[in-house]
Formats: sequence, structure tokens, C-alpha cells
Amino acid sequence: MERTIVVTGGAGFIGSNFVLQRVAAGDRVVNLDKLTYAGNLGNLASLKGNPRHIFVQGGIEDSSRVRRLLEEHRPQAVVNLAAESHVDRSIVSPEEFIQTNVVGTFRLLHESLAYYRKLDAEAQRDFRFLHVSTDEVYGSLSAADAAFTEEKAYEPNSPYSASKAASDHLVRAYQHTHGLPTLTTNCSNNYGPYQFPEKLIPLVILNALNGRPLPIYGDGMNVRDWLYVGDHCEAIAQVLDKGRVGESYNIGGESEKANLDVVRTICSIMDEAHPAGAPHEKLITFVKDRPGHDRRYAVDTSKIKRELGWRPRESFATGIRRTVEWYLANPEWIAEVTSGEYRRWISANYEARECRA
Ligand code: NAD
Ligand code: TYD
Repeated sequence: MERTIVVTGGAGFIGSNFVLQRVAAGDRVVNLDKLTYAGNLGNLASLKGNPRHIFVQGGIEDSSRVRRLLEEHRPQAVVNLAAESHVDRSIVSPEEFIQTNVVGTFRLLHESLAYYRKLDAEAQRDFRFLHVSTDEVYGSLSAADAAFTEEKAYEPNSPYSASKAASDHLVRAYQHTHGLPTLTTNCSNNYGPYQFPEKLIPLVILNALNGRPLPIYGDGMNVRDWLYVGDHCEAIAQVLDKGRVGESYNIGGESEKANLDVVRTICSIMDEAHPAGAPHEKLITFVKDRPGHDRRYAVDTSKIKRELGWRPRESFATGIRRTVEWYLANPEWIAEVTSGEYRRWISANYEARECRA
């Protein structure tokens, strides 16, 4: 039987990849997205006219909009990907992070609970609320520390991760107190098609393409674990289908890299795929560090592997090549997202960081 899923934030980076994957798999997706600067219907252009994708513009904090949408479409699941997601923006303008990530998630939970309570016993047994979160809620590791497990105490350090931690706690509380059947996923850094070029990997690809400086914060030795977005979307789908209610699942690529190594890898792929007069590495520029910059994230993914049998298909080597090739093959998408608001952010963020090399 066709399943209806409400996906929030489905016009963003991970959301649009998830929507494309779920519609291709046969689900009917009702996509609720506010279309902030990070939301782009162009990501979903291939679904135009497809009756299995219904787009609704609106915020998750708009309780009456959410209520009407749940009553009209009667979903079997809500998957919450709507968020303000960029750490640097949370440092300069945190207000939206509290409104969307905290207040918005709370209202979405509250309306989902009201909807859930009216379902019959069989529909209640099948209903799930899946909340997509981040490994950043766990805090920062030093080089010798073990990777984050699901038991690691939350120690968020940025306004972004603090707002995501708050939302995770609300999800837990709605399950524990009210019995809403929730699931939470905590994933590491994603990369791949449709990522807005404010984040490291697409920013570096685009700057390299245009011969602009490749800005590296601090000493470039901060470590992230990188996961190809398609693998993250498959993990979300498996947690939705088979995850144990009330549990959280870490998701990661087992692919820890220092930022400088990520940028150098992109440069060498660009040297082959889009040769310039000089090696792209020459564009690397060290700039002022991010305040409170977390040193290292690493996720222990034993639980999702053991319980659900999920593992990533892409290695960093294959995923990053696919990603660079995707950006080189999609100049219209790049032109669409790099106008107005994008230019304002790039000049505000980078002109304030003096060059250190
Ligand atoms: P994104 O910024 O690319 O997209 C966010 C989407 O949410 C946009 O389409 C935006 O229009 C929409 N949105 C924002 N506020 C909204 C609101 N109030 N109501 C409805 N829609 C709203 O983000 P992303 O990178 O795709 O991240 C999606 C989710 O995954 C977030 O919850 C994020 O915390 C989490 N996550 C991201 C990463 C990553 O590396 N990008 C890693 C782990 C977890
Ligand atoms: P980002 O893509 O913003 O993800 P997050 O902060 O959520 O991990 O950044 C990834 C890493 O790259 C992080 O350590 C900050 C660093 N970074 C730079 O060095 N230069 C940049 O211009 C950006 C955007 C990020």
C-alpha cells in the first residue's frame, strides 16, 4: 500500500535528496517547507507534475497550518528535516535558530501528538515521528577521544547545536511523557548534490571553479566525519521502517578528515576535471577562525549497523568525486542559488575575516 509521509524541510539539501529518494521508492510525500534562503524548489524540478509529491509552503512553527495539513493528508509518518542549519549564521543571527529549531519542532511535535491521539489503534501502532538531528549535539572531541556513541551526554557548543539539542530533548520528552512514537537520528557532516554553497564542500568547489580564494578557518586541522547525502537518506528510511520507538541512532561515514585534507582532495579532482593555469591548491587561504570552533566530531555507528544492517555505500573518495562532477554539470542550479541573499552572506562572512596567509 502507498504510504504518505509528511517531510518538513524537503526543499533543502538533505530534505530534497530524501524526497527524491522516497518518491522514487513509491511513497507519497507531502513536503512542508517555508522556503527560506536554504530552500529551493529547483532541487525538486524532476518531480514536477508527479502526483506522489505535494508541496506546501509553510513553517513548522505555524500550528494551524500543520494541523490542517495532517488532517487533510492523514500521513503514516512525519519526518522533520526543517531547520536552520548553518553554524556560522547561528553565531551572527541566532534568533531564527531558536524559532525554527526549538519552537518549530515543539509545535510540530504538539500537533503530531494531537493527530496521533485521534488515530485508531492500528494506525497508532504504525505511526512514527522521525526527527533528523546532528552529531554536533554531543560536543567536541580531542584527537585521542573515542567516537560519540548514543549514550554520550549532550554538550552542544554553538547556538546551532544548542538549538538542535533542545529539539532532541523535546522529541524525547514527547515520547517519554505522552507516548508519541518517535525516533531520532544524529548524523555527521553530509555532502553531495543540492547542498547550498555556504557549507565547506560546495563553497570550495564553487570558489575553485571561479578562481576565488578557498577560505580555511584557523589551522585547517578541525576534523569532521563526512557522509554522502544519499547514504544518510537511506539510513533515515531504514530507521523509519525498522528503528525501535524511543531510540536514537547515530549515522556516519566512518570517514574522518581534517578540513585541509578535504580541500586538498577537492583541488586535485578539480585539477583533472577543470584544469586552470595553476594548481587549485594555490587558492587555499587561511582565514580567521570561527568563534568556539569544535575541534573534532566522530560518530560510532555500531548501533545502526548491528540493529538495522545499514552501512554507507559511498566512500569519501567516490562520494566527493561524484559531488564535484555534479556541481560541474549543473551551472544553472549554481546560478539560481548564488544570487541576492547568497552574495550578501558571502561578503558579510568573509570580508570580516582578515587573511592570515
Ligand atoms: P538546509 O539548511 O539545506 O535546509 C533546511 C530546509 O528547511 C530549507 O529547505 C528551509 O527552507 C527549510 N526550513 C527552514 N526553516 C523552516 C521552517 N520554520 N519551517 C519549514 N521549513 C523550514 O539543511 P540541511 O543541511 O538539509 O539539514 C536538514 C536537517 O538535517 C537539519 O535538521 C540539520 O540539522 C540536519 N543535519 C544536517 C547535516 C548536514 O551536514 N547538512 C548533518 C546532520 C544533520
Ligand atoms: P560546515 O560545512 O559549516 O559544517 P559544520 O560547521 O556544521 O561542521 O563546516 C565544516 C568545517 O569546515 C568546519 O570545521 C568549519 C570549516 N569551514 C572552513 O574552514 N571554511 C569555510 O569557509 C567554511 C564554511 C567552513
